[in-house]
Amino acid sequence: MMVPGLIGELERIALVKETKKETKLSLVGRKPFENYGIVNPPIYRTSTVLFKNTKELEKAMSNKFNQVYYGRYGTPTTFALEDAIAEIENGYRTIATSSGLSSISISLLSFLSKGDHCLISDCVYNPTKKFAIKILNKFGVKVDFYDPLNISSLKKNIQSKTKIIFMESPSSLTFEIEEIEEITKLAKKNKIVTMLDNSWATPLYFTPINEGVDVSILAATKYISGHADVMLGLITVKNINLFNQIKNTAVTLGDSPGPEECYLALRGLRTLSSRLEHHRSGALKIARWLQNNDKVSRVLHPALPKNPNYELWNKYFTGSTGLFSFILKEQSKIKVFKMIDSLKLFKLGFSWGGYESLILPVFPKIERKVAKWNEKGILLRIHVGLENIDDLINDLSTAFKL
Ligand SMILES: Cc1ncc(COP(=O)(O)O)c(C=O)c1O
Repeated sequence: MMVPGLIGELERIALVKETKKETKLSLVGRKPFENYGIVNPPIYRTSTVLFKNTKELEKAMSNKFNQVYYGRYGTPTTFALEDAIAEIENGYRTIATSSGLSSISISLLSFLSKGDHCLISDCVYNPTKKFAIKILNKFGVKVDFYDPLNISSLKKNIQSKTKIIFMESPSSLTFEIEEIEEITKLAKKNKIVTMLDNSWATPLYFTPINEGVDVSILAATKYISGHADVMLGLITVKNINLFNQIKNTAVTLGDSPGPEECYLALRGLRTLSSRLEHHRSGALKIARWLQNNDKVSRVLHPALPKNPNYELWNKYFTGSTGLFSFILKEQSKIKVFKMIDSLKLFKLGFSWGGYESLILPVFPKIERKVAKWNEKGILLRIHVGLENIDDLINDLSTAFKL
């Protein structure tokens, strides 16, 4: 049914190709003309999908990944989100999974067999490391961790059986930026698949596939959804072979994101650029304030010119987001925890990317294997939400006076 007044599908596709990312966010993953002109794609819930006859059934069985086939393979709501993300990430296709961590584990499992070797940055999100140590090792995959700031630590660990290099840039605890171009070149030379957790920057501020990365992973739980009420992961790949391999693993393992989550992520995507702009500018203002505060020994924010990784950040990223860390001079856990407990606006909790500011004490020393953490003071990671930034600075300032 044609609805007058809205742009046609072909016009919409042409617009997507010629517009900037912020504009694309409102054009992608929707076909209002195919749904009575309704602005957002509906939530399709299904397990069973019916086929008209056995000929149609057989046709569908040989084309499972390209049509609505069975609930676990995705619904039209899942496909709308996947299409939107593939467009923004500049990938071949995207696969939605039930969480950020399942996107990571499914991607890793897709290319590793017994006897293979995998290289993972020592500064990644700890559950990624845990998956590698507890599950990959158990099934006979050898894992080594490399120092993301020392490319020779990566080079010397490449073996004939190395199948994957897994990056997280910046690291979501300590914000190291990796030399992505050099790493992807090295990987190509050695026929290694590269993966990068892009949850911090989102495809709005960094497009890994444009830099030669094969698989870009998003915990859509964070900024894409943006309201701390969704668990979801997104895997975007460079080509059809990578797609088939990863999609096959996802459906075989039985991973299946809910259509409601996909709908919420797609809705979150529409406001991503304005939310990120507030997170970006607010976090930078607080980071600068912390840099000049005598209680703080170091601020770990990649977009601050004083940061040792600033040049690399500038090379790859078009914006920074709301998550960064700082190190207090204070070394007493009791005193720091008292300070945290006195905060009124910064809430204590895991994850990030929502509208509310969060704070978390973190202890990287325990988790590091090769990139040793020698800082003495306590590291606090904060996520700067959408509140008024002066209110947030006052909250920190009052707590620091304790
Ligand atoms: C960098 C990063 N990647 C992946 C994840 C995992 O996402 P999820 O919580 O959706 O499993 C997280 C969660 O905190 C994260 O911080």
